[in-house]
Amino acid sequence: MRIVVGITGGIAAYKAPELVRLLKKAGHEVRCAATEHALEFVTRTTLETVSQNSLYCDLFASGRTEHISLKDWGEMLVIAPATANIIGKVANGIADDALSTLLLAFSGKPVIMAPAMNCEMWAHPAVQRNIETLKSWGIRMVGPEEGELACGVSGVGRMAEPAAIAAAVYAAVQPQQLQGQHWLVTAGPTYERIDSVRFIGNYSSGKMGFALAQTLADAGAEVELVSGPTSLSINHPRIHRTSVESAREMYAAATEAFPRCNGAILSAAVADYRPSECTDHKLKKNGSEGMHLDLVQNPDILATLGSMKTSEQTLVGFALETDNEEANAQHKLEKKNLDYIVLNSLRDKGAGFGVDTNKVTIIGRNGSRKESPLMSKQEVAHLIIKTITL
Ligand code: C5P
Repeated sequence: MRIVVGITGGIAAYKAPELVRLLKKAGHEVRCAATEHALEFVTRTTLETVSQNSLYCDLFASGRTEHISLKDWGEMLVIAPATANIIGKVANGIADDALSTLLLAFSGKPVIMAPAMNCEMWAHPAVQRNIETLKSWGIRMVGPEEGELACGVSGVGRMAEPAAIAAAVYAAVQPQQLQGQHWLVTAGPTYERIDSVRFIGNYSSGKMGFALAQTLADAGAEVELVSGPTSLSINHPRIHRTSVESAREMYAAATEAFPRCNGAILSAAVADYRPSECTDHKLKKNGSEGMHLDLVQNPDILATLGSMKTSEQTLVGFALETDNEEANAQHKLEKKNLDYIVLNSLRDKGAGFGVDTNKVTIIGRNGSRKESPLMSKQEVAHLIIKTITL
């Protein structure tokens, strides 16, 4: 593949030549583009030597349309490191130097970014908003990781290692082995209405399900993503999203889509119970008395799909257990007629609800068992898809 590696001005730029070397070693052709500030950290000579190509850095130096010829040449753009500045510029459509101009011109082709910055900068709402914007346009993020930062403090902001970035490139250039297939993914929480302003919900963020949908779509599948309420957005031509609120709405959407799917992964955190009645006005406090909510059971979507499943279809469920984890997961796998169950670890810090990382055990109907280390939800999604589609 012809890959453009863009380098911006952060200390992690010193690792960019190593990334270029790894990509070259994997057989890719590489050209580098750098911002002026990047060259404070890594030299033109180093980048031109490792890439064996001339560096693109000055918008006006060699013919004024090099950003266009470079975007025509490149099949993928990898920005490593990506500073808060380049992230902010692209999210807001600013093109005021060679690299940001190339980035805006580089539409319709895969872009991967490896953000790197101080942890306070990373946590800033402006940066987080910009990251979400870029992700919703389909730009893939690798890292940042937690660890020691150049400024002496520890926190989230370290650039992912060149090997992890090269692995993300590898994953993105995989042949589309799921082309022609249809998959269903459920994600996020459900909200069960109590009255016109209140609901019963849970802390699920939807991140795991969205990462699964993205991975399936990247592998060529058409994806029906049925999502409960979440702030996440996703933009991929092969992902068709249906937004639902309650378990019953999710049930209707999932059972309608499943018959035309090759498989389904149900990662949503579905409420087991809902209030037996929902009033259309706000319930009033009644003196100093307590209040009782009468709950009824929701339909089990996973068990229903298990009973609908044909021998051609693959069905994958998730399990979040607090005790007898593996035995309970195994029991669920059999009872709900699943092919795989993904057991979320609740014991490990950084795994489960809301966070960006997860640690899982994938148990197969045939007795197979694969345990992951603590990894990003994207990496967990890759492992799950690889395991269930082998
Ligand atoms: O039985 P339990 O709720 O622990 O099973 C979890 C799995 O079942 C998850 O895959 C979840 O998405 C799915 N589920 C469902 N419908 C329900 C409850 C859970 O699809 N009503």
